Amino acid sequence: MTSAAQDHEQQVFPPSAEFAATANAGPELQAAADADRLAFWDTQAQRLDWATPWSEVLDWSDAPVAKWFVGGTLNVAYNCVDRHVLAGNGDRVAIHFEGEPGDTRSLTYNDLLAEVSRAANTFTDLGLVPGDRVAIYMPMIPEAIVSMLACARLGLTHSVVFAGFSSAALRSRVDDAEAKLVITVDGQWRRGQAAPLKPAADEAVHGAASVEHVLVVKRAGIDVDWTEGRDLWWHETVEKASPEHTPQAFDAEHPLYILYTSGTTGKPKGIIHTSGGYLTQASYTHHYVFDHKPGEDVYWCTADIGWVTGHTYIVYGPLSNGATQVVYEGTPNAPTEHRHFEIIEKYGVSIYYTAPTLIRTFMKWGREIPDAHDLSSIRLLGSVGEPINPEAWRWYREVIGAGSAPIVDTWWQTETGAIMISPLPGITATKPGAAMAPLPGISAKIVDDEANSLGKGGNGYLVLDEPWPAMLRGIWGDPQRYRETYWSRYEDQGWYFAGDGARYDEDGALWVLGRVDDVMNISGHRISTSEVESALVSHPKVAEAAVVGAADETTGQGIVAFVILREGAENTGDALVKELRDHVAVEISPIAKPRQLMVVPELPKTRSGKIMRRLLRDVAEGRELGDTSTLVDPKVFDAIRGK
Ligand code: WTA
Repeated sequence: MTSAAQDHEQQVFPPSAEFAATANAGPELQAAADADRLAFWDTQAQRLDWATPWSEVLDWSDAPVAKWFVGGTLNVAYNCVDRHVLAGNGDRVAIHFEGEPGDTRSLTYNDLLAEVSRAANTFTDLGLVPGDRVAIYMPMIPEAIVSMLACARLGLTHSVVFAGFSSAALRSRVDDAEAKLVITVDGQWRRGQAAPLKPAADEAVHGAASVEHVLVVKRAGIDVDWTEGRDLWWHETVEKASPEHTPQAFDAEHPLYILYTSGTTGKPKGIIHTSGGYLTQASYTHHYVFDHKPGEDVYWCTADIGWVTGHTYIVYGPLSNGATQVVYEGTPNAPTEHRHFEIIEKYGVSIYYTAPTLIRTFMKWGREIPDAHDLSSIRLLGSVGEPINPEAWRWYREVIGAGSAPIVDTWWQTETGAIMISPLPGITATKPGAAMAPLPGISAKIVDDEANSLGKGGNGYLVLDEPWPAMLRGIWGDPQRYRETYWSRYEDQGWYFAGDGARYDEDGALWVLGRVDDVMNISGHRISTSEVESALVSHPKVAEAAVVGAADETTGQGIVAFVILREGAENTGDALVKELRDHVAVEISPIAKPRQLMVVPELPKTRSGKIMRRLLRDVAEGRELGDTSTLVDPKVFDAIRGK
């Protein structure tokens, strides 16, 4: 270990007495979970309003498919909207929407109830019934959140597809889930431009057997093609529908949503989340980890609803807790790098939750930008998506948090549904860069290949050794893949294999080190090497491709691709590189475009034909080559490095 690493491991930030005095979390939380974990979750589930109580907290008899709060019924949207209105908080702002071009709208919980009811009535009129799937392909506008909640209200299972994904990516998700309705916009605002989105939806839906309707929100005011009978305008349907709707209760295990995420191999996996357990953990973690005080705090999670962070910490967690939150449509530098800080100042944001990649970008832009604003409303900061480097952690606390705001470094995954490992503000003494410890009610271990549990100073794999309420219930349409991907590695022990490396330091603090599989983490986005490789080889000029994630100062990792051209394909240099990078953007998304792409004559392979990514990473990161003894022909590197 380097001495710099030792330094920050010794640096500890205990909670201030003032913060601890009013913190939601107290020492009794951990004590209760330790005394009886299931009784603890029973108590947490009572944060919600249930139509029918459950008879059993956990049924694990069909492991690894859990049933939580067996027999209980509830309506998720009722819990996120109606009950706050019924409790007399209908005039509280739920969403302060800030459009990229500067338009704003504030929706109270009364407004949200009317909007969600209108959308639910419209979806019902379209013939949708509980269990049907709805794809949502929208930017960060209130109608996207309204659509998700309207689905939840009706027991429809939503599948949100990030609006930055290509039509090909949308199509494969629509087909896999057999979505009947696709909700989209005419266009979205991006860096001052109205960028069309409906054409991508049209292309995706063309010939898609399951799709009956496309519902379109007019956001950018641009012309769109129209398919009569299939396409409907939001303002001609939802906005004209009745604002009255009576919700019906669904089983705790009713599927709430599917969210596709990258795995090690093959096509993206549709992660399934259900209702009662998911909402319980979303609400519990949002309340305690963010120390959220309804009616006082202004909360802002900067994620996009296209990712799980947006699902749990923009929609279900905060709204179930009656939060007032900011929803911002655009990029942090539109029109200038001041945008986020202007928004914090304008709305008095007190809790700010973002990703390390953005913090590093702010650092690069310079502290004079945040320093030009009054950020004194901020009292808590959160980080998610990748390990936060200690330098970024310190800068975040010092510059954005005035040297005093606690930072919660939250580890979790699309699959876990909600935060699993994080400091508890007011309780945990934090270390810059460490996620510290599992939350009360959550159990995790660091283990080696032989399933030995490691202690202080140990470095190994992160596993979750007990089921948790928000855990995924499977992979859509592929129960076998669910077992293989997460449960086969430690099958005898029955542990969930997270795919991350982790270690305990000498004080027992837990540090998540990043993926141990072929999943890359680019600006907090999960992209698998094989996905980018298949996109590249689908180009007619490419015979073979190998992709690695190389360290990148700002984005955490950057995508570096090595390709071999087909016989007769002409290498046109920069033009070819651009063509191939653009091809990946079309096949997957601009976020999956390789940062660097090299045309090479050969790829380093083992005798058994496996591409040696470790060596390619060495090349990509400009290191001396590691062990090449198992290579068929070590000379291939001379050719690769010659590029
Ligand atoms: C990584 C995002 C270190 C990790 C919520 C995980 C983190 C993957 C952290 C899941 C963190 C997320 N520290 N690494 N605080 N948070 N990760 O599914 O590798 O998009 O497995 O969920 O992000 O990414 P996903």
